[in-house]
Amino acid sequence: MAREAQIKAGRYQRILEQLRSELSKSGDPVARMATVASLLHHRQPHFFWTGFYRLLDGQLVVGPYQGSLACQNIEVGKGVCGTAFERGETIVVPDVHEFPGHIPCDARSRSEIVVPYRDADGVLAGVLDVDSTEPAAFDAVDAENLEQIVALLPPG
Ligand code: SME
Repeated sequence: MAREAQIKAGRYQRILEQLRSELSKSGDPVARMATVASLLHHRQPHFFWTGFYRLLDGQLVVGPYQGSLACQNIEVGKGVCGTAFERGETIVVPDVHEFPGHIPCDARSRSEIVVPYRDADGVLAGVLDVDSTEPAAFDAVDAENLEQIVALLPPG
């Protein structure tokens, strides 16, 4: 693994450790999502916008986030968020301008990763979305670790 990727993976390991302890303090879904968004956003320097969209009444509605003002509602199947949710799988977008139907909430975003999450019953419940101002900022290290992180969301 390249040195930068190792440094990033090390940061994720520390974030995961801290989250395991922080998330034992509340079973409330908003508190848990806010804790994840804050820790990730302030610990990973390549994160420009970090937050959640939750499935509510058939559409994705913005949840706890860190960063500039975001679009509030996204239809399932639209944008990177709605597409990742519909497929039920992580999408890494190296260049947002190349993703058909990308929804630009902030023109400074250049690359993006969207990771679906599930509730305690294993039902798809929403997505974690992260944007970067750097092109191609996200890779398999981000995907793997963010998938582990969203798996911590349902209270144990
Ligand atoms: N770019 C996303 C919309 C959400 S914002 O990036 C915060 C998308 O295409 O779904």
